[in-house]
Amino acid sequence: MKFFIDTANLNEIREAHDLGILDGVTTNPSLMAKEGIVGYDNVMKHYKAICEIVDGDISAEVIATDFETMVKEGEELAQLHPNIVVKVPMTKDGVKAIKYFTDKGIKTNCTLIFSAGQALLAAKAGATYVSPFVGRLDDIGTDGLDLIDQIVNIYQNYGFATEVLAASVRHVMHLVKCAEIGADVVTCPLNVITGLLNHPLTDSGLAKFLADHKKANA
Ligand code: E4P
Repeated sequence: MKFFIDTANLNEIREAHDLGILDGVTTNPSLMAKEGIVGYDNVMKHYKAICEIVDGDISAEVIATDFETMVKEGEELAQLHPNIVVKVPMTKDGVKAIKYFTDKGIKTNCTLIFSAGQALLAAKAGATYVSPFVGRLDDIGTDGLDLIDQIVNIYQNYGFATEVLAASVRHVMHLVKCAEIGADVVTCPLNVITGLLNHPLTDSGLAKFLADHKKANA
């Protein structure tokens, strides 16, 4: 399973990278805005800075909603660095743009996936990744993990190469359940990744080992 960090914060990206387990980064327009990254040049510079930290797939989202402008924006993003994955929303023009990028050899991440049918369509268009949003489905009282399970099954049935990138992963149990189901990738905030480290029995066990060592060596 690949671990992506879902942030545009360079310090958090560095911290996750320094752990040695990071495979890539996902961003979205909200995450870029949260970091105060505005204006074409700054946005482009920021994606380049992320690519310099992490040697893995970096999702950069188009803002346009019509096919022609999506293609223009996506091609500019793809030219920034070979690791850029063009993130495209699940719309009719988005599906057309994914097919266009696929034919040009440009990697894509189809975002805002909330149903198995949408995931099927994205795979048919040749998306490199699909991003089903687990937490946002939970937010409206449906089980987001059920959708991950459905998509993994459908892709296995037909041998689609599209990777299931579980997004909107909000806590450690989401991540662990995605791993049990067989999602190819999870993307989540830094605290979810570091949350995997924690267990009270690890803390108390280590404290006891160190105390016993100190007593024996006093
Ligand atoms: C996916 O790529 C999105 O950036 C993200 O995972 C959304 O998460 P949220 O629902 O916690 O905002």
